[in-house]
Amino acid sequence: MLNAAAAERNKEPILMVLRGCVNTDRRLQALEISSGTGQHVIHFAGALRNITWQPSEYDQRSLVSIEAYRSHYQLNNVKPAIHLDASQSHDHWGGIQPESLDLVLNINMIHISPMACTEGLFKGAGVVLKPQGLLLTYGPYAVNGGITPQSNVDFDLSLRQRNPEWGLRDISLLKSLAEIHGLFLEKIVDMPANNKCLLFRKESLV
Ligand SMILES: C[S@@+](CC[C@H](N)C(=O)[O-])C[C@H]1O[C@@H](n2cnc3c(N)ncnc32)[C@H](O)[C@@H]1O
Ligand SMILES: *[C@@H]1O[C@H](CO)[C@@H](O)[C@H](O)[C@H]1NC(C)=O
Repeated sequence: MLNAAAAERNKEPILMVLRGCVNTDRRLQALEISSGTGQHVIHFAGALRNITWQPSEYDQRSLVSIEAYRSHYQLNNVKPAIHLDASQSHDHWGGIQPESLDLVLNINMIHISPMACTEGLFKGAGVVLKPQGLLLTYGPYAVNGGITPQSNVDFDLSLRQRNPEWGLRDISLLKSLAEIHGLFLEKIVDMPANNKCLLFRKESLV
């Protein structure tokens, strides 16, 4: 069971956003992309028992950690973690069917992976979400070409130094990318530590 300090800090604020935007009076199906350690999915599944959660990861050590959390907490609404590369098309997403999900969640991946992962995330979410389904992303973003405050400017630079393909993405770019795949930016929620939640709704055009 790996532990990420940031996940420990942000799991409760993100849960509050989920509570505010998802109607949990019904059975829902959720996919988390880039689940990391598994801390988030366990926290959300424990609090939102009407949602069945599918964790996923690209990294093998993370998959082992998610399974360790799962066997420790024994929540019947968390499925076994699947290997999922966000940059691959949805038909490589472990058999997840088109229009089968109410919620796709992606925390702190967009800025710390190549753009192909973000493109794959929006493209795939556009397919696997049901009409009116929700894609929630969390992380630091640029706004209209600018990054604030200085700590996020420094973070962006350090990311680009580690990998030139990484870095904070602009919300307007994500909004345009989402729209290509039928997802519309519905809400931006300011979060602690200069992060944001972006809520994208899948709308049918007919
Ligand atoms: C900063 S971590 C965040 C993990 C977790 N969501 C959290 O907030 O603690 C970024 C994650 O993106 C994952 N990742 C990197 N490339 C990926 C890809 N191509 N597809 C899916 N996930 C990927 C990494 O394995 C890592 O777990
Ligand atoms: C789960 O959904 C059912 C109806 O499908 C509802 O009666 C119940 O109150 C919900 N439970 C929670 C914890 O929201």
